[in-house]
Amino acid sequence: MKLFPRSTTTPIWQLYRYALPLLLFTAASFTSAKETDDESGLIKAEGWTVVKSTCTVCHAGMMITQNAGNLAVWKSRILWMQETQGLRTLTDEEEAVILNYLSVNYPQKASSRRAGLPARLLPANPAEASD
Ligand code: HEC
Repeated sequence: MKLFPRSTTTPIWQLYRYALPLLLFTAASFTSAKETDDESGLIKAEGWTVVKSTCTVCHAGMMITQNAGNLAVWKSRILWMQETQGLRTLTDEEEAVILNYLSVNYPQKASSRRAGLPARLLPANPAEASD
């Protein structure tokens, strides 16, 4: 008598092949779970209404959603707009809410550009003397 007839049981290790699709599906559903505002494109997370009313007066929300930075970077952009573009003075509370929203929802990205080629891997320069 066979205890585990081959045709009717799936060895547990075979279930691993479902792990990657399942992981990708889960990741995808978490990413798309971020609801955005139709008008400004801003992610609807804590503080977004303050950001919308303060930051989309002069330019589209896309100026924000296409940018990224840590808290210091976002603070420097706000300062720049206050010094050069007429952004009004914000209360400490407004600034804290806005900076938290921006640095959490539009954080610093890892560089996505490839590094330049080292000289030894570059093609020969035909303008260079060869002998
Ligand atoms: C008084 C007008 C005004 C307000 C209000 C304003 N901005 Fe701006 N902002 C500008 C101008 C002008 C530019 C430059 C636009 C361009 O380059 O075409 C700019 C550019 C930017 C940029 C791009 C900077 C870069 O590095 O190129 C970001 C990001 C930004 N704003 C975010 C914000 C945020 C966040 C707020 C709210 C705290 C805000 N802005 C509120 C006027 C404003």
